[in-house]
Amino acid sequence: GQQQEEIGSVTNPAVSCKYIKDNVDGAQDGLYHIRGPGGVVYETYCDMTIAGGGWTLVSSVHENDIYGKCTAGDRWSSTRGSTTNYPKGDGNWANYNTFGSAALATNDDLKNPGYFSIDASDVMLWHVPNDTPLSQYKSAAYLRYHTTNGFLQQYGGNMYSLFKDHFPIVYNGGTTADNGPAIPITWDRGSNGLVTSLIAPNSVAEVTPGFVQFRVFNTERAPLAVCPGVRYNGFHSEHVCIGGAAYWPEVAPRQCGDFSSRDWDGYGTHTGWSSSRLELESAVLFFYR
Ligand code: G3P
Ligand code: CA
Repeated sequence: GQQQEEIGSVTNPAVSCKYIKDNVDGAQDGLYHIRGPGGVVYETYCDMTIAGGGWTLVSSVHENDIYGKCTAGDRWSSTRGSTTNYPKGDGNWANYNTFGSAALATNDDLKNPGYFSIDASDVMLWHVPNDTPLSQYKSAAYLRYHTTNGFLQQYGGNMYSLFKDHFPIVYNGGTTADNGPAIPITWDRGSNGLVTSLIAPNSVAEVTPGFVQFRVFNTERAPLAVCPGVRYNGFHSEHVCIGGAAYWPEVAPRQCGDFSSRDWDGYGTHTGWSSSRLELESAVLFFYR
């Protein structure tokens, strides 16, 4: 008889890395084939070991040039300039657009169909230096953490639904009083102390480490999509949080872009409102389970 094709191979794609983990004895970290809506098949990286494994890489936010203010490469904010005429920016937090590849997740932005189609409960984030090859994502990541409370199920099962139906990313869509959920994280590598030591020094007093938070407004009503590793309690989230829409009013367009204003007091200076160079030059990878 015919041999059954291995689950997660190109001829037998699975619905998620979780499905592969649950159905293949001893499944290892690496690339697998996943089936998305409409029969589309894509290849992505599965982490099969952290906290039981089954994590699907669905997206990465990569800053190609923080001097470009909402220019090419700013897919998680606006590639079409800083303008109030484009209040949701490129809209990629809450649409079906896809781009990039798992193997280039630290070289360019990634968004695969899993971002909007996998029914997930938790997220895992890795901070990985730019241009790290896929085989070294895990070892090179200096911060790795995941949620455990199943929060995504309250918001439609993925970040697409969370942003589309619950916390829209739109300029002037709310104030700091309308910030989205801050979910506690479990550290797999790094610590509250390490994340605090890498963000802009002036932001330290405005955050609580040990969380990942979604849809955080700054004091000028510009939304940031995700605050990686922290809950933002203050007013200048543009120096820490990533992604957003197409307009940050403060000294526009200086804060417009995927990493917004992590360079406010100079590139990688780690003084005032500038983050460390390491954070500025690393991609944030998002997994679902
Ligand atoms: O987000 C910081 C900004 O609002 C104030 O910056 O340069 O006046 O300290 P600065
Ligand atoms: Ca500010």
